[in-house]
Amino acid sequence: MDKLLIVTSRAPYSYRIQNGREIKIQNVGGVATALTGVLKKYRGTWVCWGDGRNDQAHEKEDIDGYTVRRLYLTATEKQGFYNDYSNSVLWPLFHYFRSNIKLDATGFKYYYAVNEKFAKAIIEEIDSKTTIWIHDYQLMMVPSILRNLGIANNIIFSWHIPWVSSEFFSILPEGKFLARSISKSNLVTFHIKLYEKNFHRTLEYNNIKLISQLKTLSVPLGIDTRVYHPLKGQYGMHHVKKASIIFSVDRMDYTKGLIQRVKAIDKVLSYRKDLSGKFIYLMNVTPSRAGIQGYDEIRSKLEMEIGRVNGQYSTATWIPIVYMYHKMSFRSLLSLYSSGDIAMITPLIDGLNLVSKEFVATTKKGVLILSKFAGAAEGLKGALIVNPNNINEIASSIVRALEMSDEERKLRLEKMKKYVLLKNSDWWYKRIIKAADSNYDNQ
Ligand code: G6P
Repeated sequence: MDKLLIVTSRAPYSYRIQNGREIKIQNVGGVATALTGVLKKYRGTWVCWGDGRNDQAHEKEDIDGYTVRRLYLTATEKQGFYNDYSNSVLWPLFHYFRSNIKLDATGFKYYYAVNEKFAKAIIEEIDSKTTIWIHDYQLMMVPSILRNLGIANNIIFSWHIPWVSSEFFSILPEGKFLARSISKSNLVTFHIKLYEKNFHRTLEYNNIKLISQLKTLSVPLGIDTRVYHPLKGQYGMHHVKKASIIFSVDRMDYTKGLIQRVKAIDKVLSYRKDLSGKFIYLMNVTPSRAGIQGYDEIRSKLEMEIGRVNGQYSTATWIPIVYMYHKMSFRSLLSLYSSGDIAMITPLIDGLNLVSKEFVATTKKGVLILSKFAGAAEGLKGALIVNPNNINEIASSIVRALEMSDEERKLRLEKMKKYVLLKNSDWWYKRIIKAADSNYDNQ
C-alpha cells in the first residue's frame, strides 16, 4: 500500500473554547486510537466530521505525522444525517431494537447528502494509488457514490456494529440500496463471523450480485496494549477500602443493558443480606446522543431504578450503587480499571465492546462478567459469560465473582491477557491491510 486515507464520522479530536482559550479534546475511543496508529505509519489523511465548537478554525491540519481534513454540517444536516437516520433508524435496526426505529421519509435524504459531502472531500484528498478505508454505519452510501463518480481505488469498509439477520434487515426501506453500496467496496470487515454471515445472507436475500472484487473478513478490533497499565492507589471511595469494587463503563445507550444490571444488584442484595456493605458498584455512564428519543428515555428510567435500589439498601455508611453520569478522563479510567475487582459488561447486544479488553489488559486481579451478545465474548474465554436479559444469571455471576478463589481468578485472567496482548490493535490493522493489498493486487 502506498497511501492511506481513513474516513469516519467522529473526528480523532476536536476543538472547543473554554474561558477564552482554545482546548483540544482527544477522542479516546478504541477505534480512534487504533486508526491513529495506522495513519501515523502511512502518514495518511483522516477525513471526518468537525463537530467541535471551534473545529471550523481547523479545516485541514497536519498533526502527529498525519493530516486531518474536517467537513462541517449545518444544523439541519446534523439533524437529518446524525439524529434522524444514523441514530434513529440504522443504530436501532442493527441492534434489533424494532420499537426504537423511527422510519422517517426525510432522514435518508440528508444521510445521502452528507455521505455525498464525505465522498467529495475524499476525492479532493486522494490520488489513484490511495487506499480508502471507510468506517461504520454512518457512511454506508460512500462506496457507491465514489464508484458513480468514477473512483476505482481500493476501498476497505470496516463495520463496527452487529449486522442483523436478512429478515430483520428487510425492515429498512432503503436497505437494498445501502447493502449494494457497501458491496461496491473491495474488502468489507466485521468483528465476528456471525455478522459476516448475516451480511452475505442479506446480499443473497436482496439478490445483490457480487462483483468479483468483493472480499469479506472477520477480524476483531484489538486495543493498544502499550497504553493500558495499572495505576497505583485506589480509585475514589477511600472509606470503602474493604469492599470489593464492581464497575462498568458505557455510553448512555438502550443497547447496553444498564437497567438489567441495576436489577441484578437488587437481586443480589435481596437474597444475600450478608453481602450488604461488602461491595460497591461504580457505574460510569458517558452522556451520548442526548435529545434523541430512546436515549433520554433510558436515562430517566435508569436514574429512577438506581434511586429505587439505593433507597432500599443504603445505610448511613454505605451505598450500593455510585452512579457517575459524565465522561471520565483517560487517567481516571485507568485508575478505575486498576482498582476494580469485577467488571460487569453486560450489553444486550454490542458489535464488540472494547472496555472489556481494556480492563483485561490493565487489571492484575480482576474478574470479567461479560454478555454473550458482545462481539468481544468470542475471544475472551476466561470471562464469566452471561445472558444479559437474565437478571438471575447476572446476579449469580456477581456472587460467583465476589466469592471466586484467587487461583481461579488468576487462571481466567491469564488466559484472557494472553489473547488481548496477541490480538492487539496493530494485529487488527495489519491483518486488514494485508488482506486489502493482496485482494487488490490479484485483480
Ligand atoms: C459506536 C459506533 C461508532 C460511534 C461511537 C460513538 O461505537 O460504532 O461509530 O462513533 O459509538 O457514538 P457517536 O454517536 O458519539 O459517534
